[in-house]
Amino acid sequence: MTRRRAKVAAVGTYVPERVVTNDDLSLNLDTSDEWIGTRTGIRQRRIAADGQAASDLGAEAARRALKAAQAQPGELDMIITASLSPDMLFPATASLISGLIGAGSPAAFDISAACTGFIYALAAGESFIASGRADKVLVVGAEAVSKMIDWSDRATAVLFGDGAGAVLLEPASGEGEGIIGFDLGNDPAGAAELSLPAGGSRLPASQETVSGRQHFLRMNGREVFRFATRIVSESARRVVEGHGLRMEDVDIFIPHQANIRIIDVAARKLGFEPGKVFSNIERYGNTSCASIPLCLDEAERQGRLRKGDLVLMTGFGAGLSWGSCLARW
Ligand code: ACO
Repeated sequence: MTRRRAKVAAVGTYVPERVVTNDDLSLNLDTSDEWIGTRTGIRQRRIAADGQAASDLGAEAARRALKAAQAQPGELDMIITASLSPDMLFPATASLISGLIGAGSPAAFDISAACTGFIYALAAGESFIASGRADKVLVVGAEAVSKMIDWSDRATAVLFGDGAGAVLLEPASGEGEGIIGFDLGNDPAGAAELSLPAGGSRLPASQETVSGRQHFLRMNGREVFRFATRIVSESARRVVEGHGLRMEDVDIFIPHQANIRIIDVAARKLGFEPGKVFSNIERYGNTSCASIPLCLDEAERQGRLRKGDLVLMTGFGAGLSWGSCLARW
């Protein structure tokens, strides 16, 4: 029996209104537009308002995806949310989004795989559709990372931004269209390189964890950089060649937006000319699980992602985890 294919039926995105430029950050941090721009490619990012959490951003992206698909919230069988800045440890942010959009009672759960989360969530949603257990799955990458950042740490504060992107997965109908496959992996040896140490069962919240600033994201930037410049091209190549295709067949490459230098290294290793590689990191920074759907939406609006295109998406992040998805749009 052939596997039932899933396709992305629609994309919807939302970013908070507030724009924070590199110059704005330089007012309170020992940094500069020149340093941030040349080291990361980031010029500005969106920052969520006080009281605006990941589920609020995710719900708006979800509404827009459903509107684009002319679907109703009540038609959903399942909502999967990927986030490293969930509203709470539990209940799942997917459950909160379900309530906010009035979806009724679809299954709802979160995936924790840091910036790779969107690709893992896509793989989970695709599997539910392929097995016939669901027909309409909403996959949401929703991030209010700014709430997890130590704004006095210039090494991390300049990198991240907030936003959300949602895709509606449905069974594919056209010949050859839809998700072709995935490459997923994780190296636990790198677990300490990128984490939010306290607030879980290892280091429960205490006076010490608060005064030790352990409730903020921590990162060994150089190690993560080294990992990313290796894994993005390896994973991307595995998923393309593993399905009997060539890198030349790829029409558009959408990598996770963490650093333009990581994207450039990967593109060079994979032999992609700049026109095939999509990036919007300049305007949004690293929005973690939202970065790939934000790119999908923009690429489609700009006419750079068309029906029939072979699209390659690759994410990486804490774990250290990675994931690639290959799809015929
Ligand atoms: N402004 C000015 N100077 C800075 C800043 C800043 N914002 N941040 C660091 N510096 C300084 C450092 O203190 C250091 O100074 P020193 O030489 O006097 O010690 C110097 O700049 C160089 O620092 P490096 O860390 O070596 O800079 P690098 O070129 O490696 O760039 C960066 C740092 C941008 C963080 C890079 O390592 C990177 O992008 N790493 C990968 C990050 C990443 O992908 N994270 C997301 C993973 S996805 C997820 O799961 C969340």
